[in-house]
Amino acid sequence: MTQKQSWEISRFLKTLSYFDVIPFLNNIPGVKQMILGNQRLSNPSFLPSTGTILVAGATGGVGKRVVKQLQQQNDPVRAFVRSIERARSILGENLDFYEGDITIPDSLKPELMENVTAVICCTGTRIEPVEGDTPNRDKYYQGVKFYEPEVAESTPEVVEYKGIKNLVQLASEYIQDASYLPIFDFTQATEEVKAIWGALDDVVMGGVSASGLYLEGQKAVFSGNVSTENNGGFVSVRTRNFDPHLDLSEYEGIYLRVKGDGNRYKFFLRCDSRWDGIGYAYSFDTQKDTWLDVYVPFSELVPVFRAKTVEDAEPFNQSHINSMQLMLSKFEYDKQLNPYFQPGQFRLEVEQIQAYSGQKTPQFIMISSAGVTRPGRSDINVSDQPPAVQMNDQLGNILDWKLAGENSIRESGLRYTIIRPCALTEEKETEGLYFEQGDNLKGQVSRDTIASLCLKLLKSPEAVNKTFEAAQTSQGNTSDNWHEQLSKLEAD
Ligand SMILES: NC(=O)c1ccc[n+]([C@@H]2O[C@H](COP(=O)([O-])OP(=O)(O)OC[C@H]3O[C@@H](n4cnc5c(N)ncnc54)[C@H](OP(=O)(O)O)[C@@H]3O)[C@@H](O)[C@H]2O)c1
Repeated sequence: MTQKQSWEISRFLKTLSYFDVIPFLNNIPGVKQMILGNQRLSNPSFLPSTGTILVAGATGGVGKRVVKQLQQQNDPVRAFVRSIERARSILGENLDFYEGDITIPDSLKPELMENVTAVICCTGTRIEPVEGDTPNRDKYYQGVKFYEPEVAESTPEVVEYKGIKNLVQLASEYIQDASYLPIFDFTQATEEVKAIWGALDDVVMGGVSASGLYLEGQKAVFSGNVSTENNGGFVSVRTRNFDPHLDLSEYEGIYLRVKGDGNRYKFFLRCDSRWDGIGYAYSFDTQKDTWLDVYVPFSELVPVFRAKTVEDAEPFNQSHINSMQLMLSKFEYDKQLNPYFQPGQFRLEVEQIQAYSGQKTPQFIMISSAGVTRPGRSDINVSDQPPAVQMNDQLGNILDWKLAGENSIRESGLRYTIIRPCALTEEKETEGLYFEQGDNLKGQVSRDTIASLCLKLLKSPEAVNKTFEAAQTSQGNTSDNWHEQLSKLEAD
């Protein structure tokens, strides 16, 4: 006969103390430490990190504007430059720099992509006036005036094709998907992060079940013993209240990467800091020893109070999340039994807890050029074309290599947007942006406009896998309807 286990008041007090349920108890000096002993407490004032935007060619005309605008928006930005020393004189000291060269694969280390959720690629072959040209002559100026430029340093094949291909390859291997926001990444968890989670078992109602969350290799393990003695029958681990709360209003739900034991578990979110308030629950089944991707849509959360559904509960507020909880219980909701429940040992391994969004935005934005398909095209008259098209041969087939670079992005599997600007200018005018497809557009567009367009595209799912030309000249388009125009463009 098994020996009946007795209820443990010390575990009961530990639980209440860990979750600050009885504030006055914790305010008496020494009492909290006496109750909790060596148990570590973490103050969950963490915020999940939002993704970094990598700007390649950050010292260039468009690149430096992209960096500046991202900084003004307080977006984390990393500047990929060829010389940090030179970049500091252009972009200032206070920036996350990475020194490298897209044409040198060894300089493209995985660290370049750390936390990166999108790349804005503004690199371009260096072109200089032909040697011997003097500043007094009517010389080449960024594609606007027709004069005698020549390729400096590396060739377009190396920069526009091989270099872009190198960067694209690194990005497709290491980029983080911005539609997922890591909240608890237990593959790299510290004791500090783990200590945000405390056991909350049926001991609070007189039961004898016992559980905890433990770090084991590159995962957290929710395990212990669940017992129905003393009318008990549940175990759980819950976070202390987040401070500040999490705002997940841009997401659709929570993604869990778990390996279970065949049990049905519950996941809870709470929108207030009360200890015993309404929890918003979602049940999920596991398969023994099998890693599963579990999606918990916010729209399917059930408001419950002590395992009873609450019909007139406040709607779930995803902009105000205070805590999370994982539970194994004998009960489903409203006295229904969990069909897979077995008392005894249990084990749920957790690798990730992330917020997910259905919005798939571009991961790689490339500044290409209008005209990339025009060299050799029979339907156009070369002498009517902008300088870049007329001088394509002279400039090492720059447009053909830009097109090859574009193709390497299309083949990468990354979600991309390729902007093909017409002649770039230093104008301040940002009105009247006009898009077209088919590569026939002529005109000009300011670097400021292209930079701000890049920032808008970062948040535009409708830009995914689209290529288009951009100008802001005499197209008669003066309203700021870029969004509507973008939606109407065809994907590649
Ligand atoms: N000019 C036009 O009218 C026009 C029209 C349409 C499209 N475009 C294209 O638009 C893009 C942006 O134009 P922009 O005027 O901003 O160009 P830009 O001022 O010439 O800037 C080019 C950037 O690329 C960087 N870069 C060059 N080679 C590199 C390499 N091997 N590795 C890493 N970075 C490298 C340069 O770095 P450093 O500072 O170290 O040299 C610089 O930051 C370019 O691709 C250009 O061809 C230009």
